[in-house]
Amino acid sequence: MINDLWYKNAIIYCLHVGTYMDANGDGVGDFQGLLRRLDYLHGLGVTAIWLMPFQTSPNRDDGYDVADYYNVDPRYGTLGDFVEFTHGARQRGIRVLIDLVVNHTSNEHAWFKEARKDPQSKYRDWYIWSKKKPPNANKGMVFPGVQKTTWTYDSVAKEYYFHRFYDFQPDLNTSNPLVQAEILKIMGFWIQLGVSGFRMDAVPFVIGTKGAKVKTPHEQYDMLRTFREFLQWREGDAIILAEANVLPDTDMHYFGDDGERMQMMFNFQVNQHLFYALASSDTRPLIKSLRATKPRPATAQWGLFLRNHDELDLGRLTDKERQVVFDAFGPDKDMQLYDRGIRRRLAPMLAGDRRRIELAYSLMFTLPGTPVIRYGDELGMGDDLKLPERNCARTPMQWSNEPHGGFTKSDKPIMPVISHGPYGYEHTNAAIQRRHDESMLNWTERVIRMRKEVPEIGWGDFEILRLRDPAILAIRYDWRNNSVVILHNLDANAREITFDVGLENEGGRVLINLLSEDHSEAQSNGKHKLVIEGYGYRWYRAGGLDYLLRRSEA
Ligand code: NOJ
Repeated sequence: MINDLWYKNAIIYCLHVGTYMDANGDGVGDFQGLLRRLDYLHGLGVTAIWLMPFQTSPNRDDGYDVADYYNVDPRYGTLGDFVEFTHGARQRGIRVLIDLVVNHTSNEHAWFKEARKDPQSKYRDWYIWSKKKPPNANKGMVFPGVQKTTWTYDSVAKEYYFHRFYDFQPDLNTSNPLVQAEILKIMGFWIQLGVSGFRMDAVPFVIGTKGAKVKTPHEQYDMLRTFREFLQWREGDAIILAEANVLPDTDMHYFGDDGERMQMMFNFQVNQHLFYALASSDTRPLIKSLRATKPRPATAQWGLFLRNHDELDLGRLTDKERQVVFDAFGPDKDMQLYDRGIRRRLAPMLAGDRRRIELAYSLMFTLPGTPVIRYGDELGMGDDLKLPERNCARTPMQWSNEPHGGFTKSDKPIMPVISHGPYGYEHTNAAIQRRHDESMLNWTERVIRMRKEVPEIGWGDFEILRLRDPAILAIRYDWRNNSVVILHNLDANAREITFDVGLENEGGRVLINLLSEDHSEAQSNGKHKLVIEGYGYRWYRAGGLDYLLRRSEA
């Protein structure tokens, strides 16, 4: 594999082994099943897989409660199966990223068991304790409405321990040098087994100061450099993709001024404002967030996503904006979660409207960054609101119209497969969609192929073109003397638009449509005028002078 900045233009696909494909028929997805599906992923055009946590775990938070960092949960297979899988991925040119969940462990981790039992244990100081209940114990919960406190009394230790998330996820004392050394060891272990990096969970909390006396945690950003350096000493092209839902003015602290910290971060700002734009047809706040997140080191990259395995967090929107998104995409209380988000999958949020789903994906594939697809979205899979909290959007992959969607031969799948109705596996599955040219699956495959042919998006500089119509988003990317212009109409109605590509020397006279034969030639005043249908999108390559010449010769 080529070892340059591969992540700048990767196509990342995230999945949970447990709900992807069950090979041994016990109802739980496993590495052997995933191995069999690598050709499907390769065919789709995926270049990197992000695996959600699969290490040994009591699975009370879908694996985000790790009980042994150096093992595969037996339900998913063995370390041997894992290596077979990374090998199979490598053979197909697909990289593997895995979750690194080190802000906290499970309360069933041996370190925590030792720590609570024996104040003299070396592990006592790996966690955060307090003899008295700290006054701010009812603050800073990540799951409001479900989580009651951030400090819980432990009857064995006879002290309170700190947990930013659920009470079964005690926080590690990440300021402790021994804990930091262990984090490096964990990275080193998985790197050795063939992964190309990590999606680091809850980064602001990992680097934040913790303790009973800490009123406002302060971020110890230099820890990020330590992680990054170690990783690259071991494997030059390995990366960290940080989960950090932070404000744009701290982005550079996470990337590092010289790009010496995180290579990638998820762009939560753009994610939330993108949903607002989809809900309101007003792209202005989205444009603002694109501009606010523009500064980044040349080697850094954003991870762009629509929906992930968590709720769609709308906490960064104004109250009014959030309400607009709730009204449009999650009006029932049952669809909302943690007082700030929507727990549904993308397709049902957009009422299964293919035009809107394509629009959303076209945006995700062409906004500045690297796209991160969630498994099943390539089929337009739905959700099951009967399942609690975030589980509603974590149902098994729908492969075919065999029982349980072909996910398992067992009668007891780990999670119920969605059946009946428009999103049921009987209609929505990979086998059927493979056979239909116009299916969501084949559309996604084509769009991924084209996205790979437009490296300008990942590498280039971008400029938002001035248009008077707030429903239209027009972006131009420039890289190595090439330019592409991408248009989206967020409104249901067709729009006539006039715009200037903004390139000198006739560079923007002709726009070649990359997805259809519908090209555009500038008028005599140099401006393009065209009609873009409701929820329409256009991907153009600028500067098709050759095309003009060929036409005049013909
Ligand atoms: C963020 C993960 O995305 C989420 O699923 C998890 O519950 C928390 N971190 C705790 O690890």
